[in-house]
Amino acid sequence: MDHFKRVIKARAKVNFHLSVVGRRADGYHLLNMLNGTLSLADVLTVKAQIAKGEPRIEFQSSNPNHTALPDDSSNLCVRAAREFVSLFSAPLDVQIHLEKIIPSGAGLGGGSSDAAAVLVTLAEASRVHLGHNCSAHSLLELALSLGADVPYFVAGGGFMRVSGIGEETKPVCSRGMKGENIVVIVPKIHSATPEVFQEFRTGAYDFSQKDFEFSDTELSYPKLLSLISNDLFLPAQCLYPALGELANYLNGVQGIRFGMSGSGSSFFILSDRPGCPAEELRSKVRTRELPVEAQVHTCQLLDNSFEFCSK
Ligand code: C5P
Repeated sequence: MDHFKRVIKARAKVNFHLSVVGRRADGYHLLNMLNGTLSLADVLTVKAQIAKGEPRIEFQSSNPNHTALPDDSSNLCVRAAREFVSLFSAPLDVQIHLEKIIPSGAGLGGGSSDAAAVLVTLAEASRVHLGHNCSAHSLLELALSLGADVPYFVAGGGFMRVSGIGEETKPVCSRGMKGENIVVIVPKIHSATPEVFQEFRTGAYDFSQKDFEFSDTELSYPKLLSLISNDLFLPAQCLYPALGELANYLNGVQGIRFGMSGSGSSFFILSDRPGCPAEELRSKVRTRELPVEAQVHTCQLLDNSFEFCSK
């Protein structure tokens, strides 16, 4: 194969709404979520060529804040590439470089977005250079086997209603909301998703009885604000009490609405009216007054998972 190279921005997500509505026999929880995509992104460089021998996956990372990530199966990018090559019998040597920007353990789906970007890129490499057509269904099944948030990114991201354990995705028409500013607070707390779900299961938390509703064909900004809630907040707060202190602090800030994303630890902040300039929204959060050590990112809402930067 000729030289195949893609540089991709793999974006983060937030869950504006997350209700836990049941549990499957295998222990996974059934969810109803409303997701959105942020401009905050990791940058992946993926190169692929036809393997001369056994397919090889090479992985490197750079990370402004932390040490390099592992290149073994504990890394979702590496697993995505290995399992793609095996499932689709694609004889590829793959090189991945990941510039890690999205904080881990923050409920922002960074690892899932990276894995989804690898899958989508290798599907393109296989189509263009091997003539393989990976079925969308198989790709989504592979995505789900990697993690419950991966199908959302493979399906294209943006405003989506996501249900099941994460495999049912339905785009939501959100015209006019692209580019809205959103501030994300990332506390220095690594929230462990399995432990938060376990706390939900063992604590006295009820399943949500009612699905969230928006029958409108279009999701308006006021409707979005009214849907903000997260059933994992109380169990996450039980494990990480500082999250409760952060929520108390944000409750006292005028002119905003906020929620926790995923199983934490990040909180997102929207203005209580659309079109609020980034500086004005950002100025509402005084980093030095926050009750927890945290990074604060000013982002925009975007309507798809990836940006393909160059070929
Ligand atoms: O799929 P992912 O790796 O993100 O999930 C991490 C863990 O969170 C799972 O192993 C499971 O314990 C829990 N989980 C769950 N129900 C979901 C998603 C995740 O119980 N819908």
